[in-house]
Amino acid sequence: MFYYLIRKLLFLIDPEKAHFLTLKYLKIEKIQLFNFFRTFRKPLKEIKCMGLIFKNKLGAAAGIDKNGEYIEALSEMGFGFIEVGTVTPLPQIGNPKPRIFRIVSMEGIINRMGFNNLGIDNLIKNIKKSNFKGIIGVNIGKNKNTSIENAINDYLICIEKIYIYASYIAINISSPNTISLRNLQYGILFQNLLKKIKKKQRELQKKYFKYVPIAIKISPDLSKKELIIIAKQLIKYKIDAVIATNTTLDHSSVSGLKNSLEQGGLSGLPLQKKSTDIILILSKILKRKIPIIGVGGINSIASAKEKILSGATLIQIYSGLVYHGPKLVRRIIHHI
Ligand SMILES: Cc1cc2nc3c(=O)[nH]c(=O)nc-3n(C[C@H](O)[C@H](O)[C@H](O)COP(=O)(O)O)c2cc1C
Repeated sequence: MFYYLIRKLLFLIDPEKAHFLTLKYLKIEKIQLFNFFRTFRKPLKEIKCMGLIFKNKLGAAAGIDKNGEYIEALSEMGFGFIEVGTVTPLPQIGNPKPRIFRIVSMEGIINRMGFNNLGIDNLIKNIKKSNFKGIIGVNIGKNKNTSIENAINDYLICIEKIYIYASYIAINISSPNTISLRNLQYGILFQNLLKKIKKKQRELQKKYFKYVPIAIKISPDLSKKELIIIAKQLIKYKIDAVIATNTTLDHSSVSGLKNSLEQGGLSGLPLQKKSTDIILILSKILKRKIPIIGVGGINSIASAKEKILSGATLIQIYSGLVYHGPKLVRRIIHHI
């Protein structure tokens, strides 16, 4: 109830400003606010995935905390893991504002942020500063000015720098807001990417005596045929997990509604079924050889359970948090 009152005020202002105001508030208030709720928390069952121990199945999706500035506040909310980023080798400002749009009646969000972030070095500083001892995934991407032919290099730079600070690394090749990025999901570009990141992972494992799992984050706009090819390659290259899915370019489910014609990736409830369908197809091919992290439109306990029943070992949310607030996190983690 309390969050829905605050939401009324937050929804009067620009979505990007509302996002930062909320996170800043949570950062300041985190101790008082969440310690109160923690008193009522019962111990939860831990989950093993990618060789790591997660305190629960629900994570904060990439994009909520691009620069790792709110790791503790998000953890205090109850999330079992936090995926920070997307970060790129160099800082970049992203697309012009406004670049986030709400589709309130459908609990949807369209964003075209374009990897605005302060760069990998700044993220490392923030991770080092934080006292968080849980699972931090670091989601990495390529800089806008790096050509798609040289994109792999950007991923390798980020992997090399972040390796010892990340619990796992997520390779984002599915954001629709960086030109040609999604081409990395296909053919020889995809195979080369997988080959080179696995080689880098092996080198760094030897150097640091530490294995850091690597997950690939995919788009919901792939056909079944494309998904089958991707899944087979993931198995071939022994990728540690697949994150399904990023936002969709298909706005047909919100057509006619305010903001539906804005360019960018659609998330939230309108993405729910599409991402679940992708998880269902993937899980049939992967047969639990590679874990799936399910994300897209989770806005209730039922939709969280549906993702898990469809084959996801872990789940993440972003838009659901905007529409339902921190209570949704607590409700989900206590019921799945
Ligand atoms: C404003 C916004 C920014 C996002 N930024 C990123 C990002 O930087 N990297 C990424 O991999 N996904 C990003 N996402 C996608 C989410 O991580 C998630 O995959 C997608 O929103 C579907 O989940 P949801 O329906 O729970 O929001 C972003 C989503 C939103 C709404």
